Amino acid sequence: MAEILKIDDISVSYGSIRALSDVSMSIDEGAIVSLIGANGAGKSTLLNAIVGLQPLKTGSITFAGETICQSKHHGSLTTDLIARRGIALVPEGRHVFADMTVEENLDMGAFMVKDQSVIEKRKDEMYDFFPILGARRKQKTRSLSGGEQQMMAIARALMSAPRLLLLDEPGLGLAPLIVQDIFSKIRIINEENKVTVFLVEQNARLALRSSSYGYVLENGRIVLEDKGSALLMNERVQKAYLGA
Ligand SMILES: Nc1ncnc2c1ncn2[C@@H]1O[C@H](COP(=O)(O)OP(=O)(O)O)[C@@H](O)[C@H]1O
Ligand SMILES: [Mg+2]
Repeated sequence: MAEILKIDDISVSYGSIRALSDVSMSIDEGAIVSLIGANGAGKSTLLNAIVGLQPLKTGSITFAGETICQSKHHGSLTTDLIARRGIALVPEGRHVFADMTVEENLDMGAFMVKDQSVIEKRKDEMYDFFPILGARRKQKTRSLSGGEQQMMAIARALMSAPRLLLLDEPGLGLAPLIVQDIFSKIRIINEENKVTVFLVEQNARLALRSSSYGYVLENGRIVLEDKGSALLMNERVQKAYLGA
């Protein structure tokens, strides 16, 4: 499989606080890859760096053969251009526009699409895929449940027809059955729509079961990487993340 995302030795700091140190990763096109790690490990920082929201102290990030982020500022693309290249982020905590309707939120996700008929077609696809969103399309987002809002945040990201979907803790704060439902949607998006998925999740078991490959982040460093099935069997992972 061809590599779609390459993270090469990146470091990120907030002032004097080092959040990521010498992180390197590779994601193959078509894969689901997960990143697991405790609270504060640097997971959100990594996703934000990929979409250009965090400047790099060192290293570089390459997407589909093009350098999109590097420590030299002039060599990086803006967040807007990175989105146009085909990377969409569903941020932690969803960041939906609560006072806008479901439909208006989806329109926002298609900001880079000029052709209105394409936007309408994609919205119809989203309403087919997430029927609850179709039923609620004229409702304000704040009236949706947490799970429905997460589905809407994913649908909004898909409105840009990304090649790579970044998901920051899609299960956070949701009931186990809802999380299962969201993960089954993520697998369908990956298999049927051929979207590469990079997933950050505290529910390590579910994440690794869904992933062909995984990375473990501790204190801003990658300490382990392997096939998802191998990490599930790994003693250190079981002790620290699987409650075994
Ligand atoms: N805006 C910020 N300013 C200062 N420190 C931050 C900021 N965001 C995150 N951090 C720190 O960076 C580290 C990594 O945070 P984060 O990437 O949010 O971790 P995770 O998503 O794995 O919980 C933590 O120590 C956190 O306190
Ligand atoms: Mg986070």
